[in-house]
Amino acid sequence: MDEKIMNLQEQISQREKARKRAKSLSFDSIATHGVYDLNEALLNQGSIIEPVYLSTAQTFENAEIMQKALAYEIPSWSYTRIHNPTLYYLEETLALLESYECPSEAHACVTSSGMSAINTVVEALLEGAENANFVSSAQVYGGTFQLFSIRQAQKKRQVRWVDATANIEKWEENIDENTRFIYIEVPSNPTIAMSDIKALSVLAHQYNIPLIVDATLATPALIRPLKYGADIVIHSLSKIMNASGMVIGGALIAKENISAGFLADEIRENFAGFIKLLLNRDNGACLSPMQAFLTLSELRTLRMRVEKFSHNALKIAQFLEAHPKVEWVSYPGLESYQQKDLAREYFWLVDSQTESYNYKAVHAFGHLMSFSVKGDGQTANEVLTRLKLIFRATDLGRVKSIATIPATTTHQQQGDQGREIAGIENNLIRLSIGGESPIDLMEDLDQALAG
Ligand SMILES: Cc1ncc(COP(=O)(O)O)c(C=O)c1O
Repeated sequence: MDEKIMNLQEQISQREKARKRAKSLSFDSIATHGVYDLNEALLNQGSIIEPVYLSTAQTFENAEIMQKALAYEIPSWSYTRIHNPTLYYLEETLALLESYECPSEAHACVTSSGMSAINTVVEALLEGAENANFVSSAQVYGGTFQLFSIRQAQKKRQVRWVDATANIEKWEENIDENTRFIYIEVPSNPTIAMSDIKALSVLAHQYNIPLIVDATLATPALIRPLKYGADIVIHSLSKIMNASGMVIGGALIAKENISAGFLADEIRENFAGFIKLLLNRDNGACLSPMQAFLTLSELRTLRMRVEKFSHNALKIAQFLEAHPKVEWVSYPGLESYQQKDLAREYFWLVDSQTESYNYKAVHAFGHLMSFSVKGDGQTANEVLTRLKLIFRATDLGRVKSIATIPATTTHQQQGDQGREIAGIENNLIRLSIGGESPIDLMEDLDQALAG
């Protein structure tokens, strides 16, 4: 074998070792270093931070190596639409974080947005099926709702909505021989509903179909669905993973050998790799290396941020619940939360039980809540308009707190009927809590509610 190719084979084995070493580290250490170890740094002129490879393409030693690279036979990246070293560092970090404490290996593919991750996954699973259907929680992000109900219907595929997500029989009733997957959001945007990941993964596997979980709001710092049996996890990287608000991006992370009887074994084995190297090479839904670089930088402090925002959010949720102008608050950390048992089962701050923290596992419930103001949609509009510190925006997961009215913004296009099955009322305000002092946030909310 050509010496150059042998060196490349050596690189593969170095990278496998780096992944194995990283897998033995704690969550924060993985978030900080990923697979970018000393060897990798020395290959990059000793740079202590993963470099941003903005180059569109890679050059090769000779024609033979180039041919093997394009056939995916040697480690290479060829062209940034297909792959890129900065994307590699990010994908490995995400796969390691999402499969933390999970016995199975996982692989990731980053995409141009959260929606492109969702679309790519569902297209790959629905491809070629006649009369295909899939079963989804009705409590999903508005863009997902539209994709499932409008775009998929245009392709003659049927979404079967389940609105009582905790009732497993309701899910099973909707599954038949043409069902390709089960889809949930944990927790959901904007109603903050939970689903039982373990029970739904058992159900999905009985029918040899995958369970897909959009865990954008939880992040791996709180809930890692692969550990509970899910097959594929989806993230919008545009949210708390990039709390500074400078990135639109997405990711799908699939465990090895997903449950999907209708797919070829080699696709099931590494579903994320299949999407990356084949489907997305052709669809072009790639992430920019600059965006990957920014994401890597923000991931290093993910757990700290999630802990801090969760702490602030709990204080705000308790304040709102006691406020005379508020009808109800949906936040998993509240005693009044409707699915308290599920919240207590799944929301844990990663590594809180370890020596490096306080030897005791603690709950943290995330940054997002929704609440309903006493009055109608117009009252909610007026409250929103009076906010002075909290920004009005169709956004969430930021270091800056943000509020919106989903019925008139993010979930507007899903229509009255769609919002009704998803439980999104006109006077519901979605509130994403960031890093400001909760005292200042409470003061702002108080004056806005007072009118
Ligand atoms: C839970 C959830 N999933 C997916 C998306 C879509 O992500 P993106 O905006 O990156 O396309 C969003 C956007 O708000 C979301 O809230």
